Amino acid sequence: MKVLFLNGPNLNLLGQREPGIYGKVTLADIELAVRAEAAKSETEVDFRQSNVEGELVTWIQQAKGEFGAIVLNAAAYTHTSVALRDAIAATGVPTIEIHISNVHARENFRHESMIAPVCVGQIAGFGLNSYLLGLSSALMITVD
Ligand code: DQA
Repeated sequence: MKVLFLNGPNLNLLGQREPGIYGKVTLADIELAVRAEAAKSETEVDFRQSNVEGELVTWIQQAKGEFGAIVLNAAAYTHTSVALRDAIAATGVPTIEIHISNVHARENFRHESMIAPVCVGQIAGFGLNSYLLGLSSALMITVD
């Protein structure tokens, strides 16, 4: 079973970026925690980040047939990207939307998710644990 973790714009700055909201953990710390957890169930993990919307679209397209699930923190593209939503719908790979912060407790523009209707579900507000919950959810919904 393979799970693809995708991270959108500015998540490469975790650790220095708005620590009051996102904490002090870096994306590398998160990747290590995800890999350690995945190893317990012999789950293969691919973990990527891009600031480029089209690159994320391409990775979602390429996931079909290779990954059992996608765990996606689309960051700001969550709230704007029809292209990401269409890519998820087009490829049909079960996708779990995750966020470090509780987007519903923040600015109004973060309450809307363009991708939520095409995702299996949404996890938000648990910090680094949103990624681990994303992994558990991926293992529950996938069979291959
Ligand atoms: C985020 C929430 C988004 O609104 C924001 O644009 C991000 C990070 C989160 O993980 O809490 O960049 O996806």
